[in-house]
Amino acid sequence: MPSNYDNSAGFYDRLSRMVYGKALVTSQVYLLQFIPANSSVLIAGGGTGWILEEIAKIHPTGLTITYVEISAKMLALSQQRNCGTNKVTFVNQPIEEVDSATVYDVVITPFLFDNFTEQTLDAVFAHLHQRLKPGGLWLCADFQLTGKLWQRVLLKSMYTFFRILCGIETTTMPDIESRFTKYGYKKIASKTFFGDFIISTEYQKP
Ligand SMILES: C[S@@+](CC[C@H](N)C(=O)[O-])C[C@H]1O[C@@H](n2cnc3c(N)ncnc32)[C@H](O)[C@@H]1O
Repeated sequence: MPSNYDNSAGFYDRLSRMVYGKALVTSQVYLLQFIPANSSVLIAGGGTGWILEEIAKIHPTGLTITYVEISAKMLALSQQRNCGTNKVTFVNQPIEEVDSATVYDVVITPFLFDNFTEQTLDAVFAHLHQRLKPGGLWLCADFQLTGKLWQRVLLKSMYTFFRILCGIETTTMPDIESRFTKYGYKKIASKTFFGDFIISTEYQKP
């Protein structure tokens, strides 16, 4: 069963900032510089939508954005954001069920994949891969485990909390990097945050 962040929509941003300070925001803002002007962008799992305002600070106009969120409450908050004059289409559906032939210049997955089991990641990744143009950019920010005990403890606490509150399906972090390798993506740029618990990467589709 897919997760539902409706139960945390009202306090998600405050809670994440309490735990991670600015790291979740800066790790995503780092990626936004790679969005080309006048491009088409698919955002999957954008949460409360603050990322739309950050995008508008860099590109106040010219972008065509499709914003897909499974949580109706997260989506409703996102719809109130100032997106500049970028053209934004909001979709309240699981990204893997969005049936469209549209292909994009850029795909953004901001802390989406950590919600998934390996099996769901396979399906969602394959789906998003089809939505990206050859040579297109995939901007991915997520957690990674680099062998430190505090990372495991923090991750386990997060999974327990969001499993109870939002019903997220996984209890372990799936191997995100291996999917990009499998599909032949080239790593263009990458930066870590919050120790090295968060990694933001710009990939290019072959
Ligand atoms: C961990 S939160 C991150 C939110 C936001 N990107 C941020 O960093 O503040 C994951 C988000 O992905 C959404 N989500 C989870 N599974 C999804 C799916 N299959 N399709 C679309 N959105 C999904 C959740 O509703 C939630 O808003």
